[in-house]
Order: sequence, then structure tokens, then C-alpha cells
Amino acid sequence: MQRLTNRQIVLGITGGIAAYKSAELTRLLKGAGADVRVVMTPAATEFITPLTLQALSGNPVHLHLLDTEAEAGMGHIELAKWADLVLIAPASADFMARMAAGQGNDLLTTLCLATDAPICLAPAMNQAMWRDDTTQENAKKLEARGVKLFGPASGEQACGDTGPGRMMEPVELAELAAHQFERGLLTGKTVFITAGPTREPLDPVRYISNHSSGKMGYALAEAAIDAGAKVKLISGPVNLAAPDRVERVSVQSAEDMLAASLDGLEQCDIFIASAAVADYRPTAIAEHKIKKGNEEIMELHLVKNPDIVATVASRADKPFTVGFAAETQDVLSYARGKLERKNLDMIVANDVSRSDIGFNSDENAVTLVTADADLELPQASKRQLAGQLIAHIAQSYYKVR
Ligand code: PMT
Repeated sequence: MQRLTNRQIVLGITGGIAAYKSAELTRLLKGAGADVRVVMTPAATEFITPLTLQALSGNPVHLHLLDTEAEAGMGHIELAKWADLVLIAPASADFMARMAAGQGNDLLTTLCLATDAPICLAPAMNQAMWRDDTTQENAKKLEARGVKLFGPASGEQACGDTGPGRMMEPVELAELAAHQFERGLLTGKTVFITAGPTREPLDPVRYISNHSSGKMGYALAEAAIDAGAKVKLISGPVNLAAPDRVERVSVQSAEDMLAASLDGLEQCDIFIASAAVADYRPTAIAEHKIKKGNEEIMELHLVKNPDIVATVASRADKPFTVGFAAETQDVLSYARGKLERKNLDMIVANDVSRSDIGFNSDENAVTLVTADADLELPQASKRQLAGQLIAHIAQSYYKVR
């Protein structure tokens, strides 16, 4: 079920007694890390309340095609585009017939017409209805169009009959849904990434900071999501939108960044510190704007900030920990020193003396340093490089965990 992490699933529910099982299915999909949006046909609401499914999915339930309020939130086309998978459970004989005929006479059929996502149906109906020639023809038509049928199972039915037509059990459906997705390199893993600069305030209007744009860290977050991980991005102040499916925690200072990094760290499998953290902060923050005086020289008193990545790596239950080393000279030897001193599993050495790579540029070139080997990754876009870094990090992670 790990393959469901971060997946966006539209769960369609049509009218049938098996609709009560859709509550458990919603809970299982959600519990496996999927984001679930439920779409119900009017008949489905006769069997189970939208409120139950809203509470279990944590999202509003979509009911009507022509609901202006719902369309203003996430309309049917947006919902169709949002879905990675459309799972309809239970799928009644009537729904299958309407879908096979290409109808778009309610929200769910319209969404099925509009989506590019794979569609899976879990038929549920009386055994005689399932065996009926028309239903069988509809099932074949749908399968010929690439729709997958999960079941139906056979057995005792709510109406007292015995035979094929029971909806498969929620746990089986959730497993089958998970298998529609490929396993990524980091499927089921949780990755924390620090990114961007920190700001260390001097007074209400001034701070000490650096030129980090966050581009490298955000690219790593996207690459980790693509590899199937659950990602928490702990970001200093940057002008970048949060990547899709990433949990972003916005922070300002190094102390904030440390607190956000330690929060939930027991869930973290891989910690990547790409942030440019200020090593020092002013000893005191002036309550009011510091006024210009007569003196030509102004002295600032600074105190050392906590070292975030070293704190993470000092824990007995430390995640696989990857640091970055931004250097302007003797790049590799300083990087090796940090690898050892901070107890890291890997460090990414970054020459920041060049203006075409490193801070704020769209490209980077780095050397991956571990205790026993160095690997140069030549200049490329930060997005490309992030993909390579995540692949190497995953490979090294599995060697030791
Ligand atoms: O954000 P961009 O514009 O895309 O630029 C990317 C980058 C150049 C910032 C990035 O590639 C990079 O090199 N990040 C590390 C910057 C840095 O502060 O390096 P450092 O050598 O000073 O620190 C070594 C490691 O310790 C880093 O992983 C850093 O995050 C971490 N650190 C440092 C100080 C501190 N108090 N806490 C830390 O966790």
C-alpha cells in the first residue's frame, strides 16, 4: 500500500448497499497516504451520508454537476485533471450502463469522460443483474476501453441470493488500487529537506541573511516526490511556490528551522540539509529600529546558531543524513571535514565561488562525497541535478538501512 503515498484518488460511490463499505475504503486509502476526494451519485447518498465520507476523507464531498459553489472550489474538470486514479466502488449496473454508453448526465460520469487518469470499477449488484447479458456486454465494452474491473466477488448477497456480484472487500480494493502505481525509488519513505536562507533579525526592520534562493532545495523536494517519498520541506523565506504534494513548513531563523526539523523527526528516513543557515545571529534583537549614531563604526555582537544538520545527525535514531557544503576554496577538503565533524552519511560539495552555479542560479555542479568515494555530478539544471542526487541518496540509503 506504500505506493499510495501522495497519490490523488477520486473515489466514486454509486447507489448500492455495498456503499457502506466505501467508508472503510476511504479510511484505508487515506491511511496509506493518499489524498482522497469522494464523488457520490444521488443514489449513493440514500445508502451513506456525505458527512461520513467528508469526515473520513478530510475533504468536501462532491455531489452535483451543476453546483456553482462546488464548481467555484474544485470543478468537475479540475477534479478530473487532479486525479491520479478514479476508483468507483461500488459501481452499480446502472452506472456501468451509463458509462458504457458514454453518458455524462451526472458529476461522476462527466468526470470519467473528462479524466486522463486510469479508471477502475468495483462492480456490486445482485447476481442476476451481474449475469444479465446487457451488464456483461457493458463490462466488456468498458474493459475494451481500458477500464479495469476489480471483481466482483462471489458469495452470499445482501438480498439473500448467492453468486457473483458482491463488491470486493475494502482491503482488497485498496491493495489493487495501490498496484495501479509504479513503485518509486523512495516509495513509503519520509524525507525532510531544509532549503533557502535563514534570516537573523537585528531589529524590527533589519536582518542578517544570504543569497540562497531555495531553488536547489525545492528541486530536491520535487525529485523526492517524483521518487514516491512523503516530503516535508522546511523552508527559509524564498520566492518560490510550494511544490505539489509537499508539506512546506515556512520558517525565518535558524532556531525556527531547527525546531521544525526536530518536529516529527522520528518519522524521517532521510534528512537533506540544503539550506544556507546563518552560522551566527545577533546576541539581542533591538525592540525598536536601531538609530544611526555619530560613530563611524558600529559593532555587532553575534552568538553561534545551533547546527541543525549536526543536531539531527547526533541522535541515536538518526535518519540517513545528507549535508551540503558551500565553499569558495578547498571545496573537497572542507566538505570532507564537515562530513566527519557533523557525523553525516553523505555531503554534497558545492563550489559557490562561481556565479554560474550555486547560490541563486538555475544550474549547479557538485561532488557527492561519502566516507569511501567521491562522485562528480557535472553542471546541469538544479532540477536535473536534484533527480541524480535523489537517485544516489536512495542507493546509498538502501545500502545501510
Ligand atoms: O538556494 P540556492 O540559491 O538554490 O543555492 C543552493 C545552495 C548553494 C544554498 C546549496 O546548494 C548549498 O550549498 N547549501 C548549503 C549552504 C551552507 O550553508 O553550507 P555550509 O557549508 O555553511 O553548511 C554545511 C551544512 O551544514 C549544510 O548542509 C547546512 O545546511 C548545514 N548547517 C549549517 C549551519 C547551521 N547552523 N546549521 C546547519 O544545518
